[in-house]
Amino acid sequence: MCGIIGYVGPRQSQDILLSGLSRLEYRGYDSAGIAVIDGDGGLGMRKRAGKLAVLRDDLASTPLADGTTGIGHTRWATHGGPTDANAHPHLADDDKLAVIHNGIIENFAELKSELIGEGVTFRSETDTEVAAAMIGREYSRTGDLVSAFRAVVSRLEGAYTLLAMHKDHPGLVVGARRNSPLVIGLGEGENFLGSDVAAFVEHTRKALAIGQDEIVAITPEGVEVTDFSGAPVEVEAFEVTWDASAAEKGGWSSFMAKEVSEEPEAVANTVRGRIHEGRVEIPELDGMDEFLADIDRILVIACGTAAYAGMVGKYALETWTRVPVDVELAHEFRYRDPVLSPRTLVVSISQSGETMDTLMAVKYARSRGAKTLSICNTQGATIPRESDAIVYTHAGPEVAVASTKAFVAQITALYLLALHVGRVRGAIDPVAAVDAVTELEAIPGKIARVLETEQGRIEQLAHWMADTRSVLFLGRNVGYPIALEGALKLKELAYIHAEGFAAGELKHGPIALIEPGQPVFVVVPSPRGSGEMHKKVVSNIEEIRARGARVIAIAEEGDVAVLPAADEVLRIPLAAPLFEPLLAVVPLHIFAMGLAEAKGLDVDQPRNLAKSVTVE
Ligand code: G6P
Repeated sequence: MCGIIGYVGPRQSQDILLSGLSRLEYRGYDSAGIAVIDGDGGLGMRKRAGKLAVLRDDLASTPLADGTTGIGHTRWATHGGPTDANAHPHLADDDKLAVIHNGIIENFAELKSELIGEGVTFRSETDTEVAAAMIGREYSRTGDLVSAFRAVVSRLEGAYTLLAMHKDHPGLVVGARRNSPLVIGLGEGENFLGSDVAAFVEHTRKALAIGQDEIVAITPEGVEVTDFSGAPVEVEAFEVTWDASAAEKGGWSSFMAKEVSEEPEAVANTVRGRIHEGRVEIPELDGMDEFLADIDRILVIACGTAAYAGMVGKYALETWTRVPVDVELAHEFRYRDPVLSPRTLVVSISQSGETMDTLMAVKYARSRGAKTLSICNTQGATIPRESDAIVYTHAGPEVAVASTKAFVAQITALYLLALHVGRVRGAIDPVAAVDAVTELEAIPGKIARVLETEQGRIEQLAHWMADTRSVLFLGRNVGYPIALEGALKLKELAYIHAEGFAAGELKHGPIALIEPGQPVFVVVPSPRGSGEMHKKVVSNIEEIRARGARVIAIAEEGDVAVLPAADEVLRIPLAAPLFEPLLAVVPLHIFAMGLAEAKGLDVDQPRNLAKSVTVE
């Protein structure tokens, strides 16, 4: 799980590589390295354990000779710990060849013994160095880097994107891809390769998506893509719709702070272009009406925060489509014998579009005859490319590891999907559909209001609670996945014990955890939706309060019933019950971020986590 970049062109490559890597650091940040073919035909390489800043400082004090062909890598360790030696690039062919890699070569041990048998020595514990040695061995036979790649990829099992350059071929970077991401950026007299478009978007917005099992060679003049057998393939061009400034921090203290502030926009942009004359029509689903009208089951698969978005989506999908919906963690779905049929719609949700667990589940569902639809935030990513249909969320690039604006965009996309499918099936009353659209269009303004009125207070609360060792979260109905999301965010960012529970489950166990002073966030449903559910949650608050809990309620404006029971009340604007999660989650995102900041932690890059988990 790493970020990679390659450059060929007229410009000095080091700055281009480092700035590309800084945008890819979300993919991994335990070590980084670059290699450059310099003007005298030498190959310079520098790699360092630690964040990119360590490499940057090292290069600033002892620069590499500059050159116009280069590759760069930011790593999240899989084979071999995060050390200088295990960082990429890895060299071969008497240090004339440099190779970087994202993924896992599953048969590397067997290949390594073969090479050791031939007298090859290794300087790292990585699977990548094995691939480098193999490419070096083939290259020394033919002097042709592309054919060396072709010979090697046929022997590699697993998932990988490999990039290589050889000092005898300045102006050439070769890449291969199997089950790991790689895109091409097309410039004027220069070309790029990257794990995603963020690697090169500051230089060009013209991109080409490379398919699975393809090899690409870039030179300043052009790009050639072939399949693994060497046959030329057509590649799909696309225009990146966001610019480099969208990937910058833009004055915020962290990417996460910036991304939380963009939650209103993420919803608005995801809705944009999908409402016509007051009804939801998702243009990407044109031509699917017959199938959607006939589905008898929807299965949502995702991991982490995306799975909680799926759990929220289930309520809307069932309400508006009247099709039964199950939500499953992708990694749990994949390794059993699920019941699927051609009438099952499998909806995957992934911000990155590269989460390996989700990708494998999508492929599995397809192989079992189900139709797959991808809700994804990253153009040209693998999961949408492997799916039958795509509904992109338009949250813009999300850099902080913990997902925030993508979460609200995912819920929005699921609601749009539910309204679209409900209309196609004639399952939703047209008046209810119009009301839902009106609600959805009002959500961005309401999220903005939560940010405006509550952010300061929540940050203050988080500051006061900086020493807290455990926080519980309760919610009911659509508030339940929000409780889970609140707890996940706190674990991810502040490294403290946090659990989310369905409020009704309290009496079946979790209430035993309540002791004096225990902070509990409660997502309170609107009294205007189901008065009965509201009353029950207020009773839950009273039960835990009686046992000493410190209750922080998230309740709609004007809900006075919570006042006597709660220690703190965070207010959200009025919305129809199904839409409350889009508002109630905002205080929880702010709280987790605020508490982590109060503890002096890095909210963008929490320990042990990576944004895009491209290994199973
Ligand atoms: C990782 C991230 C989470 C994210 C999950 C799914 O675990 O740390 O923030 O929710 O992956 O990622 P995806 O890109 O598939 O939405």
